[in-house]
Amino acid sequence: SPVELQLEKLSISDKSTNAFKRQMLILYGSQTGCAQDVAERMSRQAKRRHFKTRLYSMDAYDRDNLINENLVIFFCSTTGQGDEPDNMKKFWKFLLRKNLPNDILNQMKFTVFGLGDSSYIRYNWPAKKLYKRLLQLGAQSIYPRGDGDDQHYLGIDGTLDPWLKGLWKVLMEMYPLPSGLNVLPADVLPASSFRMEFINHKLDPDNNNIVKHDEIYARLVKNKRVTAHDHFQDVRHMEFNISVSDFKYEPGDVLVVRPKNLPDEVDEFIKMMGWEESADKAFILASNDEDRKVPAHWDSILTLRKMFENYLDIFSTPRRSFFEFLSFFTTNEDHTEKLREFCSAEGQDDLYAYNQRVRRTIVEVLQDFPSAKISLEYIPDMFPELQPRQFSISSSSKVHPNQIHLTVAIVQYKTRLQKPRRGVCTKWMSGLKPGECEIPVIITRGTMRLPISLSTPIIFIGPGTGVSVMRAFIEDRIYEGATENYLFFGCRYRDKDFYYQDQWNRYVDEGKLKLFVAFSRDQDNIIYVQHMLRENAKLVYDILHNREGHVYISGRSDKMPNDVMNAFKSILISEGGLTDEQAEKYMIMIERTKRYQQEVW
Ligand code: 2AM
Repeated sequence: SPVELQLEKLSISDKSTNAFKRQMLILYGSQTGCAQDVAERMSRQAKRRHFKTRLYSMDAYDRDNLINENLVIFFCSTTGQGDEPDNMKKFWKFLLRKNLPNDILNQMKFTVFGLGDSSYIRYNWPAKKLYKRLLQLGAQSIYPRGDGDDQHYLGIDGTLDPWLKGLWKVLMEMYPLPSGLNVLPADVLPASSFRMEFINHKLDPDNNNIVKHDEIYARLVKNKRVTAHDHFQDVRHMEFNISVSDFKYEPGDVLVVRPKNLPDEVDEFIKMMGWEESADKAFILASNDEDRKVPAHWDSILTLRKMFENYLDIFSTPRRSFFEFLSFFTTNEDHTEKLREFCSAEGQDDLYAYNQRVRRTIVEVLQDFPSAKISLEYIPDMFPELQPRQFSISSSSKVHPNQIHLTVAIVQYKTRLQKPRRGVCTKWMSGLKPGECEIPVIITRGTMRLPISLSTPIIFIGPGTGVSVMRAFIEDRIYEGATENYLFFGCRYRDKDFYYQDQWNRYVDEGKLKLFVAFSRDQDNIIYVQHMLRENAKLVYDILHNREGHVYISGRSDKMPNDVMNAFKSILISEGGLTDEQAEKYMIMIERTKRYQQEVW
């Protein structure tokens, strides 16, 4: 087994000197907080084994110190089509520097656990690349890379648990406990990472509006439903005025929004938890733990209510650490026992069936365990942070100076328990009233960029709200005078969800746009954008091959990107006479040269 192999490689001298060096650095790259949660779990386990630990996101860590680190455990998730999470991008760029000598990390022992989904082609790419690059730079792997897989029937835990178990076996051999110390049992409540220092202070209601570093204000001026009222999906066209004048953004840029919980829902939650008395008392959150800092964008003076309205998530599916913590706070024995069982190795199937499979929310779990009396200072340990959401900007700043437009589908779905659910962020956004609210936002670069030349023909493929970024591109190009714009849009019905049709039709009339719309349900047979591409094979081939055009794709990631890719391959075969293999290579080539770009979610 890999564990036995690793143990064999250890020399006796390694073991004896390591007893004094029980220091572990844990670094993570996390997009939605999963990798961070796993890294925090690792840190708690390490502390119980008397390791001195430090824990950072890769980008928050001081890279200059890397050459002094002896033991680093990496956790790294995958976003998009195999991309690095945002908070490891700088670190990764640094590792890729050409001038780094091949032995620069000679002193480092490490391993990597990736979090991904094996149904994607670039499954766990960031973790795989990171592992390989660290080896190239001379670091020694103490344990084989772990590939966490969302497709496992137990979710990530299904691959993570055995990996951690094996890793600890190796680590405890390499870094034995100094004599006299024992591994602390898991049933001891760890110290809370933060404490609340209550202060005698009336919370200034404007306190929330302090703009932090790179944030700017966006004042909502329009929030209009653009799908018919009897259509199943509520899609909004939102317009914001931005506070910074002459602010320029590029087509393809992305708006980062921090969602909030609705005050009514937070109020109900606070009542359910019996926290009414403490809810509005002001406090300062102070860290008990070097590893854990109060996030930079949090207000310095908080109340419980503000913390839940602005920063903490109560509607996501709880992670296992939530159940671990909760088991310490239940006052009913049956509850405690059930929670302990959920956290045990044998209880993983049950926990999965209870929790992830039906996407139970934190609030619902707390309803099931009403005897829980959570100590307030553990709240930041137990509740995950509300994650910022990214929206492709759907306007060009040349056409709409000082404005940002978004095209937002309000997320609604049913769980396996048949409960209707709404997405936290879009639920909040859908209720924002024009003229009444200003929200802090950040603008960052998206992944797609236009070619410099205006004469390059471009095929834009954006079914549904995938059209949002295409609108930014097309507005910008047409403003600059480009006319070689080909838009493939897809929606269900001409008269229900064909948003922006007036704008497209105007461009078409002016000879600046060719429009192809796939109405999937207006007729008996289903028509999608890829069918429209095939139907126009000659034109598509001419643009792509003879005229070296570009292709942009945006939309939901489940099947569409692959179906579209296959449509292009079949067009290369039918129109260009390529073989399967040649068509495959052709697609790889145009992806590499950025003539074929996609941004999917
Ligand atoms: P449907 O909802 O009728 O299945 C925007 O969501 C449009 O994209 C809808 O018309 C939707 O059709 C369509 N769509 C769904 N799956 C798709 C796929 N795999 N490829 C292309 N379009 C798809």
